[in-house]
Amino acid sequence: MNGRYRGFLTTFVLIFLLHCSPALRAQDGCLTCHQTMEDPRAALFLKDVHKAKGFSCADCHGGNRNAEDMETAMDPDAGFRGVPSGDEITEMCSTCHSDGSAMVKTYNSILPWGQKALLEASVHNKLASNGKERIVNCATCHNAHGILPVENPASPVYPLNVTKTCGKCHSDASYMRIYNPTIAVDQVDKYRTSVHGKKNASGDRKVAECASCHGSHEIRSAKDVKSRVYPTNVPETCSSCHSNPEYMAGYGIESDQFEKYSKSVHGKALLEKNDIGAPACNDCHGNHAATPPGVASVSNVCGTCHALNADLFAQSPHKEAFDEADLPECETCHGNHEIVSASEKLLGVSDEAVCSWCHGGDPESKGYKTAASMRLLADSMDRAERRAIGLVEDAEQKGMEISDAKFKLRDARQAILQSRTMVHSFDEERFREVITAGIAVTAVAGSEANEAIDEYYFRRWGLVFATSMLILLSISLYVYIRKLEKRKETGTRNSAG
Ligand code: HEC
Ligand code: HEC
Ligand code: HEC
Ligand code: HEC
Ligand code: HEC
Ligand code: HEC
Ligand code: HEC
Ligand code: HEC
Ligand code: HEC
Ligand code: HEC
Ligand code: HEC
Repeated sequence: MNGRYRGFLTTFVLIFLLHCSPALRAQDGCLTCHQTMEDPRAALFLKDVHKAKGFSCADCHGGNRNAEDMETAMDPDAGFRGVPSGDEITEMCSTCHSDGSAMVKTYNSILPWGQKALLEASVHNKLASNGKERIVNCATCHNAHGILPVENPASPVYPLNVTKTCGKCHSDASYMRIYNPTIAVDQVDKYRTSVHGKKNASGDRKVAECASCHGSHEIRSAKDVKSRVYPTNVPETCSSCHSNPEYMAGYGIESDQFEKYSKSVHGKALLEKNDIGAPACNDCHGNHAATPPGVASVSNVCGTCHALNADLFAQSPHKEAFDEADLPECETCHGNHEIVSASEKLLGVSDEAVCSWCHGGDPESKGYKTAASMRLLADSMDRAERRAIGLVEDAEQKGMEISDAKFKLRDARQAILQSRTMVHSFDEERFREVITAGIAVTAVAGSEANEAIDEYYFRRWGLVFATSMLILLSISLYVYIRKLEKRKETGTRNSAG
């Protein structure tokens, strides 16, 4: 290739590039002049994602980008808007970021768009204390100059920096108090003590940070049912990472927590029955201090809701024994994510029973004996209840009034529930007391039902007797009358004859 030819080709390519790539389009007069002024905005803009995309200062501020003198460049008639503030900033950014067709077609971008609408539906859309603007605008979290892609480690919304960006306000007690004194300001501090927070501080970008749990533009109050941290939504929020085996590979922990949880008594209550009294992931792990509850704190966690069980356990012989062996108090028998409905099957010395895990080996031990007799007691209570229910149903079917006995059955059920809790004393005597009281109530209910049934039969036999007597009476009456009539007939015939 000769020199002239090469020169021609280069010029052609240059012209082509200048036409197609806005980045190489005519000089940015605004930038040039502001650079010579040593305007810090100009320096920041050099690494801005918008500069890389070929935009000029004028694409945000308006004005004439080709002009070299100030007056023509920053002429309001050429659309120069000056310095935006507050909501004007959001408007400025949204001329592009909420215009899907411009983003996709004109700018050939695959970024999600529509952040303004999300922001408007968020808790941050409330008016700021000055009453003039919203609490946040786009530049609050992204800056105005030197805006970087989210994936750039220097971006304020890069996963390792988000905490600082949110903490600017959320860790500032005097600022937050103006808005809502009931919102805590300890999230960042607590977060730093969590497994997530420690790893985040040491450079692991895959752990959860503020935006992975709360979202970014769409953040809602924790009490809003649409919030990602509303109880019924928490399990899904956590499982977006924790149920993804590829994402979690390399951490050496399972990714089955959600799967197990959703089948557990807690998961079903929360997710299927919408019972927000049942624990979501964060009720056991903490919100910001998310860490597996330690051996010592599991019972505290469970005990916040199951207070009686925890109290009984604390007074039981297992308390000291479990502490010594470093066994978690409730989890040892119930598990954590897969907790199922408890039943008396767990009690006793059969293969299914939890007691046999530790006491099964020695039938002479007090543990074994206690487990065995507690189960016998529980079974006899069950049988007594079944029998009483049978009798009450029988009496009811026969149409007898037995509301008293039915009421007692309810007391018996109560005693059974109480006994299931009383298991946690692991004390045969205390357990027996509850069961004995329960059996006594079923006995009364049963005998009341029995009496009602007796009465039913008594009345029925009485009726049969009475009816038979009536029939007998009518028959004899009939016979007597017939006799009388016959006698009359013969009498008449005699007198006539
Ligand atoms: C020839 C130099 C020059 C050019 C070209 C120029 N500016 Fe400026 N600009 C200045 C100077 C000097 C100031 C500060 C003047 C002042 O404080 O009023 C300024 C101020 C500004 C301000 C702040 C205004 C305010 O009210 O505080 C903005 C925004 C701005 N320029 C944007 C632009 C944009 C956008 C362009 C291109 C369309 C541009 N400038 C072109 C020199 C220039
Ligand atoms: C992505 C949109 C965007 C671009 C591009 C942009 N700015 Fe700005 N600029 C803003 C916003 C938003 C503000 C107001 C918020 C602030 O001051 O941080 C602002 C404020 C300013 C101010 C006023 C600062 C003050 O504190 O009063 C100047 C001067 C300025 N910009 C100059 C420039 C120059 C020069 C360029 C090009 C090198 C430029 N801007 C590019 C969005 C932009
Ligand atoms: C003139 C249109 C336009 C304006 C005005 C504009 N942007 Fe952009 N913005 C874009 C385009 C186009 C991209 C790059 C998309 C790409 O690389 O795919 C972008 C990229 C971004 C990114 C990087 C996202 C990522 O992870 O890659 C952020 C953040 C951003 N803009 C925020 C803002 C903010 C904040 C403002 C207002 C201060 C603003 N933009 C104003 C068009 C605009
Ligand atoms: C409260 C802080 C905050 C505010 C305010 C905010 N952003 Fe973001 N933005 C984020 C975070 C955090 C991300 C990181 C991605 C994520 O987690 O969704 C992000 C990501 C983005 C992205 C990358 C694409 C995406 O949606 O993930 C764009 C573009 C963007 N923001 C534009 C805007 C615009 C435009 C506004 C104003 C309408 C705005 N942001 C207001 C925090 C904020
Ligand atoms: C400019 C300051 C500011 C920034 C930055 C900010 N917030 Fe907020 N945020 C607030 C204020 C003020 C409120 C209280 C609104 C109210 O209820 O009056 C709030 C409310 C919230 C709430 C709702 C609290 C509740 O349950 O009522 C959450 C959640 C939240 N912010 C999370 C975040 C996250 C996550 C980030 C970072 C991506 C962030 N915020 C960035 C100021 C800010
Ligand atoms: C692992 C998930 C997770 C992370 C990470 C997280 N949060 Fe939360 N956050 C929650 C949950 C769950 C709640 C709801 C608590 C409740 O129901 O009371 C919450 C509640 C809040 C609240 C309102 C309740 C209050 O008064 O405390 C604010 C504000 C908040 N978070 C801010 C933040 C900030 C800032 C960060 C980053 C430092 C952050 N969160 C990180 C899960 C998380
Ligand atoms: C953005 C992804 C992500 C989200 C969302 C997330 N986590 Fe994590 N979490 C991780 C990663 C990654 C680890 C680190 C695993 C490790 O090192 O053990 C982790 C660690 C943990 C640990 C410590 C595990 C251990 O024993 O080391 C607990 C507990 C935990 N997360 C609970 C939660 C809860 C509860 C939620 C929801 C409120 C949640 N996480 C949301 C990614 C996430
Ligand atoms: C009823 C309380 C409870 C609930 C609800 C709960 N966890 Fe756990 N979680 C625990 C306990 C207890 C441990 C084990 C602590 C130990 O053994 O060190 C644990 C351990 C973990 C671990 C560490 C790794 C492992 O599997 O041992 C992760 C991660 C975790 N849970 C995530 C979750 C997620 C995600 C959810 C919601 C889908 C959830 N947990 C719901 C109590 C609970
Ligand atoms: C040594 C094994 C063991 C330990 C430790 C244990 N439980 Fe239980 N738990 C059982 C058995 C067995 C049952 C079933 C009783 C029945 O149905 O007859 C049960 C039943 C329950 C029930 C259902 C009955 C009720 O009270 O409503 C709850 C709730 C419960 N346990 C919570 C806990 C809590 C909380 C802890 C920790 C403080 C704990 N358990 C520790 C063995 C244990
Ligand atoms: C936030 C409150 C809360 C916490 C924390 C909690 N639970 Fe529960 N738990 C419930 C509720 C509510 C139910 C009843 C669910 C249903 O059946 O509708 C329940 C049910 C149970 C049952 C089944 C009871 C039965 O009648 O069969 C067991 C066992 C149990 N929880 C054990 C635990 C253990 C062990 C922990 C700690 C690791 C724990 N729970 C933590 C609220 C909680
Ligand atoms: C994880 C192992 C483990 C399980 C499961 C377990 N225990 Fe124990 N238990 C112990 C240990 C350890 C001791 C203290 C040492 C001893 O006396 O055997 C103990 C002590 C006892 C004692 C007191 C014994 C004494 O000498 O005073 C009784 C009673 C008891 N357990 C009953 C039960 C019952 C009932 C169950 C089932 C609901 C059960 N245990 C399940 C480990 C367990």
